[in-house]
Parts: sequence; C-alpha cells; structure tokens
Amino acid sequence: AANHNPSAAKSASLKPLDPVEGAKRAAAYAAVDNHVKPQHTVIGIGSGSTVPYVVERIAQQGEAVNAKRWFVPTGFQSRELIIDAGLKLGDVDSFPFIDVTIDGADEVDNALNCIKGGGACHLREKVLAEAAKEFVVVADYRKNGSLLGSKWAQGVPVEVAPFAYAKVLQNLKRLGSTNPQLRMGKAKAGPVVTDNGNFCIDAPFPETYMRDPSDLLVRIKLITGVVEVGLFCGICKSAYFGNEDGTITIKS
Ligand code: 5RP
Repeated sequence: AANHNPSAAKSASLKPLDPVEGAKRAAAYAAVDNHVKPQHTVIGIGSGSTVPYVVERIAQQGEAVNAKRWFVPTGFQSRELIIDAGLKLGDVDSFPFIDVTIDGADEVDNALNCIKGGGACHLREKVLAEAAKEFVVVADYRKNGSLLGSKWAQGVPVEVAPFAYAKVLQNLKRLGSTNPQLRMGKAKAGPVVTDNGNFCIDAPFPETYMRDPSDLLVRIKLITGVVEVGLFCGICKSAYFGNEDGTITIKS
C-alpha cells in the first residue's frame, strides 16, 4: 500500500465535504486520473456512493474525449449517473470487452479480494469487472481491511433465484454460515429484489472461512439456486481508499 497526497492545486478548487465524502471523492478522482486514459473508449461504471465522484471526474475530462466513449452501467443507479452526466450509455451485449471498470466495494483485503453486493448489484458488477482489462475499486478508508468480514460484518451477499431461497438458506447454514438472512427492503415490506429479478441473502461466515475467500466462493457458487456470490477474488488489480486527512492509500 502507498500513501499519496492529491495535488494541492486540484483540491484547492474543490467544494469542502465532510471527511467521509471527501475521502470518497479523493479516491474516485485519483483512480480516474490514473486509470481512465484518453485512448479508452469503453468504460464500466459500478455502483455505490463513491461512484458519483467517478462519473463527475470522467465528465471533467471533457466532451471531446467523452464523445468517443461508451459507458456501461452495473445497474439502475449507474445508468442514471451516466445519463445525467450526458455520457453515452452502452451495454455489455454490445461491449463485452471493456477497457477499464471502476466500482465501489464493501470491503477489500490486502490481497485485493473484495466483498461486494451491499447494493445487491454484484452479479452485474462481476460481469463488468471480468469483462474489463482492468478492474479498479474506489472507496473510503472504512472499507480498507485485512481480513474480509472484519469491516463488513453483515455477511457475504449471495444473489439467489427467488424460488430457491429457502433451500439455499439451509445449504448456507450447512456450509457453516452463522445465521444467513434473506435481505429485506425498507420497512421490511418484502425482500430486496435485484436488477435481475432475484433475491439476496446475507451469509456471515466465521473468520476461518474468510481466510480463504476463493475456496468459500467456489463452495457457495456450487449451491444450486445461487446466481452469484459477492466475493471478488483475483479480479481487482488496484484499490484506492480516500483517508480522513485527504491522503489516498493505494493497494495494487
Ligand atoms: C453494490 C456494491 C457497492 O459498490 C458497494 O456496496 C459499496 O457501496 P457504498 O459505497 O454505497 O457503500 O457492491 O452491490
């Protein structure tokens, strides 16, 4: 990991934000500056609260360069961000090869394994991450961990076919998950439904399982009814974390 100070000139002109928002913006701006190059024509845009700053920074690269680009979203939120910024919306059917995808995360360990899916977008996020030559994560300091599950305690997000959810809950318990729960929406009126029409289970696992996230990923993925698992192993090449003091920590 390396610590960097964003250039004083750039930060001087920025609107002051609270420390967490400032950290998100610093991480997003640095990642865009380092990874979104003029020659890139297909860019994946992820989900979460840091991603608006990614789109903001890309828009600042100017209309001339952005007119030659297509932007592929991971869900409804990023689709709206792309449209609102006046950028060209693409989809992964038309652009299965992406130059760079930038996305948020719920937690990243020192080997760049990630937990994703806090927004239940992890199926599309993983497709866009794997379709990209480069997958870059942006987040604030609260997501920078060493052992997955120590910062994001609500469990591994598991997208599941709706009719199979009760069976998958049992399978996850048998696998060793401590109290997996079907994720409920606001006011607990019903389950969260993903952009793909599926449900989401949050499956906490004891520390021993989290020490080998690739193994856990394979075990969960083999459960029939599971659509995708919010463990991203061996996909992320660089992660940018904004810190409270305005510096950035880069893991790569
Ligand atoms: C959605 C995700 C998000 O990237 C992740 O939850 C981070 O979101 P936020 O920045 O809002 O905490 O994986 O599925």
